[in-house]
This record gives sequence, structure tokens and C-alpha cells, in this order.
Amino acid sequence: MQHFVRVALAAVLAAAVAGGAAAAANAPEHVIKYRQNLMKAVGGHIGNVALLVKGQVDFADGLVTDTQAIVDLLGNAGIAFPEGTAEGKTKARPEIWQDRAKFDAALEDTIGKARALAMAAEGGDMAAVGAALGALGKSCSACHKSFRIKDE
Ligand code: HEC
Repeated sequence: MQHFVRVALAAVLAAAVAGGAAAAANAPEHVIKYRQNLMKAVGGHIGNVALLVKGQVDFADGLVTDTQAIVDLLGNAGIAFPEGTAEGKTKARPEIWQDRAKFDAALEDTIGKARALAMAAEGGDMAAVGAALGALGKSCSACHKSFRIKDE
């Protein structure tokens, strides 16, 4: 019996892996989930930077790691908003695809602010890091204001 269960489980896992590989990638609902996870991850790193800046935690290399992760993740954000992903469980506004140049410019601005934050983190001057963090937060909000549906 034990053996049967193990064999059956292995078969299910194999089918899941094979099925996953065979199914077409980038279905809209999965792309939407991907970009929401990406944004959540960016938010998590911002939260860590805030803890470090306030001195509520003190870890060598924490600032450099978290700020660089923000730069890397935002660098991938543009591809996560392809055409055809405006509908479904998403708070993305249709304006993203009606005025793509403005959306891309907003993202570029935020990436620039994230790079400035990462550079300040390398420098280690906490006042500069705090200022750069504030500027980054404003840039995130600017895009959300134009392109994300507000929470009720
Ligand atoms: C270029 C525009 C743009 C920029 C810049 C941007 N966001 Fe977003 N963000 C969005 C959009 C659009 C959504 C909604 C995505 C969806 O629901 O499909 C979103 C969603 C989110 C979410 C909610 C994710 C969820 O759980 O559904 C968080 C958190 C978030 N962003 C944080 C940030 C932070 C922090 C920054 C700045 C470091 C940032 N965003 C920069 C456009 C942007």
C-alpha cells in the first residue's frame, strides 16, 4: 500500500510537470499574477529599506542588497504589462495601453530613482539614503495615481 501511494504520487507529479511544460505560457491571468507578485516584492524591499534607514534593524549589506533588488525587479516590470492583460483580476488601468509612452516614462523615472537609492546605499550616508527613499516613494505613487485603480 505504502509503495502504491508513492508510485501514484510520483505519477501525479510527473503529469503536473509535463502538463505545465506543455501548456502555453503567459496566459493573461498568469501574467497579471506575475506582475502583482513583482510589485509586492518591490514593496517588501522598500519596507526593509525603511527598517534599515530608521535603524530598527542593523544588518551589514542589508541596504545594498534590498536597494539593488528594487532596481533589478523594476527593470523587469515593463515586460509584465503586455497587450491583452487589461482584463481580469487586475488593478491596472486601461490607460496603460492607451498611452504606453507615458506609462513607460513613469517606469523609467522610477527606475532612475531606484538607481539613485542604490547608489546612496553604496555610499552609506543614511541622510542621503532617506532622501532617495522619499523620492522613490513619490515616483511609485505618481505611476499608481495615473495607472492603477484605487483601492476602495
Ligand atoms: C510604471 C507604473 C508603476 C510604477 C513605477 C510602480 N507601480 Fe506598483 N503597480 C502598478 C500597477 C499598474 C499596479 C496594478 C497591477 C495589477 O493589478 O495588475 C501596481 C501594483 C502595485 C502593488 C500591489 C500588488 C498586488 O498585490 O496586487 C504594490 C504593492 C506596488 N504596486 C508597489 C509599488 C512600489 C513600492 C513601487 C515603487 C518602487 C511601484 N509599485 C512602482 C504600476 C506601477
